[in-house]
Formats: sequence, C-alpha cells, structure tokens
Amino acid sequence: MNKLLPALTLAFVAQITLAQGQPNYDESEVPELELTDLLTFNGKKVSTPKDWNENRRPELYRFFEQHEYGQVPGVLDSISFNRVESDDKALNGTALRKQVVVSLFKNDKSLSFTILMYLPKNASAVPIFLGYNFYGNHTVTEDPNVIISKAWARNNKAFDISDNTLTENSRGVRTSRWSIQKMIDSGFGFATIYYGEIDPDKNDLTDGIHQLFYQQDQQHPKPNEWGSISAWAFGLSRALDYLETDKDIDASKVIAFGHSRLGKVSLWAAASDQRFAGAISNDSGCGGAALSKRKFGETVGRINTSFPHWFSDNFKKYNNKEEDLPVDQHGLLALIAPRPLYVASAEDDQWADPKGEFLSTYYATPVYDLFDKKGIPSDKMPEIHRPIHHTIGYHIRSGKHDVTDYDWSQYIAWAKAQIEK
Ligand code: GCU
Repeated sequence: MNKLLPALTLAFVAQITLAQGQPNYDESEVPELELTDLLTFNGKKVSTPKDWNENRRPELYRFFEQHEYGQVPGVLDSISFNRVESDDKALNGTALRKQVVVSLFKNDKSLSFTILMYLPKNASAVPIFLGYNFYGNHTVTEDPNVIISKAWARNNKAFDISDNTLTENSRGVRTSRWSIQKMIDSGFGFATIYYGEIDPDKNDLTDGIHQLFYQQDQQHPKPNEWGSISAWAFGLSRALDYLETDKDIDASKVIAFGHSRLGKVSLWAAASDQRFAGAISNDSGCGGAALSKRKFGETVGRINTSFPHWFSDNFKKYNNKEEDLPVDQHGLLALIAPRPLYVASAEDDQWADPKGEFLSTYYATPVYDLFDKKGIPSDKMPEIHRPIHHTIGYHIRSGKHDVTDYDWSQYIAWAKAQIEK
C-alpha cells in the first residue's frame, strides 16, 4: 500500500500538468499583450487624481475584490491588544523587543496572533517594515526569547518541523531572509507575524480567521468572498490597528513587506488599506506583481489548481482564460498609487516571471504620473543589480526565489529616501 503512494502522487501531479499544459518559459510564445488602459473610465480619459480616486480606482478595486482575492464578509465585533513580553536590551543592546498578542472577536468566536517587533533603542515614532513569515516568529532570529507559535505549520525536514508543530529545533532557521540588524541600524523598526496564525496554509477554510465570520453551518466562503490571501491581508490590517496605538511607531510610515505568496499578500493589503504607507513585493509572481496575460511560468489555472484556497472561487473562471480578465495585475499595483511601491525579481525565478513583474510596474506608471510621482520610465528591463529607486522601485538580482541581504539593502535605502521626501 505504502509503495503505491508515490506512484499515486506522481499520477496526480501528471494529471495536473496535463490539464494545465507545461508552463511556458519561451518569450517568443508569449501572447501579444493587450492590456486595459488604467486611465479610462466610461470611455473618458481620467486626467485628475480626484477622478481617479472617486471613479476609476473604486471600479478597479471592485474587480480585484469581487473576482480575484475575495471580499472580507463583515467587520469584527472587537479587537484587543496585549503586550506579553518586552526587553530593551535585545539584539546586543541595540533594540527594544516587544511581543504583542492581538485577539479578534466575532460571533462569540475568537482568534489570536502574536506580533514580534524590534525597534531601534531609544528612538520614538519610527517607520517600520511589517511582514509575515512562513514558519513562525522564532525562525527569523536566533533570539531565544521569541515565543514559539502553537499554530499548525507545514512539515519541513530541513527545518526539523514534523507533526505540524513548531519547536525549538527550528529557531533561527530563516535568519538569512530578514536583515533585522540592518533595519535597526538604519532607523527602521521591524514587525513580523506567523501567517499560519491567521489562516493555516492548506486547502481548508474551516479553520483560521474564516470561520469567525461563517453563518451557522457554513463551511466555505461565498464565491465572491475571501480566500487565504485576502484573509492574510486582513490580518496585516489588524496588526496595523495595533501599530496605530503604539507611540514608539509612526503608524503613517508602515510599509507592508512580503515574499512570494506573502508578496501577493503585501500588495493586496496595501491596495485594500490605504493606511499602509507603501508596499514591497519580493518575487510575488502570479497573482502578485506579474502580468497574468503573459502566461509565462505559473498561470492562473495552475495557481488555482495547486492552491485552490488562495483566491476567491470567482477567480477560477479565469483558469486558462487569462485573456478574459478585464484588467491585469498592473491594475493591482496602480491601486497602491501614489504611495511608494517596490517590486523585486530574481533572475532564476522564472516561475514568477520576472519580466511580467517588471512590465506590471511600467504599465502602472501612468497612474503614478497622474499624481506627479515617478514610476518606471521605460519598458526595457534594467540589468541585473541595477536598481531603480523612484516612487516605484524595481530591481532584479541574480540567484533564485528567496529574500537576500541584497534585497533588504535596496528596500531600506529606497524606503529611507521615500519617507524623508
Ligand atoms: C509556489 C507558488 C507561487 C508562490 C510560491 C511561494 O511556487 O506556485 O505562486 O509564490 O509557492 O509562496 O513560495
């Protein structure tokens, strides 16, 4: 029986591959791009920020909310914040560490998550990067005082995570992805949350935040309602609710950060909640910064098959029908205008379509122009390691799908310049 399992898994993977076709990595096979003009509304040109904000932006937002990520089906009854730990001698005495439990209440049910923060010592009202991590707050640093989450986690042999349970064994395994000391030394705070505390990342929407909002006997969101990405974005906004109460932080300078699936989240969070000062998408790919109509690397059909819980059910209408999308992901980026936005790609991360990520920033630029903010001036991709640091930032680095110290050096320098403007 056990021997059969790998064969069955292989057959399943083969079935998906056959149904969706092989991913395309050949630029000459990319269809000619026919992208919606972001600055046309009811047949008329949008020529003022007011017209954008009052007419075109809501129309675009509604598409992404109702047909892609899914709407949050209500408001919370209440929210509470509880600082459970702090230490002003963290990171060799350079930082103040705080751990705050945020509890969300709805329909007599509740869910809690923990924000881990490091803030430059003796600084007040600091700008801050806020982003989810994949395997628990204790993985982003060696600091032995970081609380280990009890939430469900994906097993990972390399990180010694089994039984879907996080333990001491995985402390510090993801430090390479978070240049925390660099942020602190540059005057930025850092806040992170384990995404599994908002919604465990599996094809099951009966656990996590979704179930707080269900009507009796409901097990699944309605077709226009939130999948996991929208749920995680909602969680980032609740963390921002807390940050607004903390005097050590300048809540008007909170930049949402995310890598990969969590980069899709940082973009959707900043599009949905205009209190975010800006957003960074690191290798976010399909359903993130990359243009879907290029059908390069991961496609809408592939992502909705491999991860059926990420988007709203309505988004599945576009499986293998990207040409029917009324707007592409450049529209998502434009929803962040005029706020600072940074998109980054990695050369070997073809699955995420670096060129599609870049072109999306270029095609979002007319909306930034409307606000006299500098976007991406040319549709020619910059060379590797030649970052563009305008209000829209972009770089492509060498290497694979990952977050590196190079990426953080760019984000910090860019964010500093944007915030000081
Ligand atoms: C998969 C998925 C991507 C996603 C990535 C990640 O590769 O296909 O869409 O961005 O996982 O989150 O690491």
